[in-house]
Amino acid sequence: MVDSTSTFDGFLGVRESIRLSDASSKSERSEDFLDEIQQAIIDEALETFSRRVVEEALNPKNLGRIENADGDGRVTGPCGDTIEIFLNVDHERISDVRFMTDGCGPTIASASVLTQLAKSNTIEEASMIEDRDILSVLGGLPAEHIHCPMLAINTLKEAIADYRRRKG
Ligand code: FES
Repeated sequence: MVDSTSTFDGFLGVRESIRLSDASSKSERSEDFLDEIQQAIIDEALETFSRRVVEEALNPKNLGRIENADGDGRVTGPCGDTIEIFLNVDHERISDVRFMTDGCGPTIASASVLTQLAKSNTIEEASMIEDRDILSVLGGLPAEHIHCPMLAINTLKEAIADYRRRKG
């Protein structure tokens, strides 16, 4: 059986390398070809993951770093995936939140949803977000990815703890 999880995870990088190695005149055909591959991988991913997981993984919100953030946390899970979350806080309210990860599609989707849930909330409210809140937005995850939202939550907790430490 094809492992749709790893196919899904590797696709973004593959697409970018094909693009970079493609000369020019063939580029339109290559784009069509890549679109076909992308659609096939999305169809396959949808057999395992909800549409929201696939959408968030392919178009994550709040991806990136914040220079001189008010707080940041970095956590590596037992699976080896790492998430880093950056916070800016204004009067105890999260004015900006960004994340970076080297993780799988469901990890990207989990961190993306978490940042959307946390943004504009107070630090207190954000610290009460649970992994089940992310799972509920994502429409669930397969058992082998059930820890991805927890990694995102633990990273946010680290970022909040760092913010509180700095604030003193
Ligand atoms: S597989 Fe480990 S965090 Fe996603």
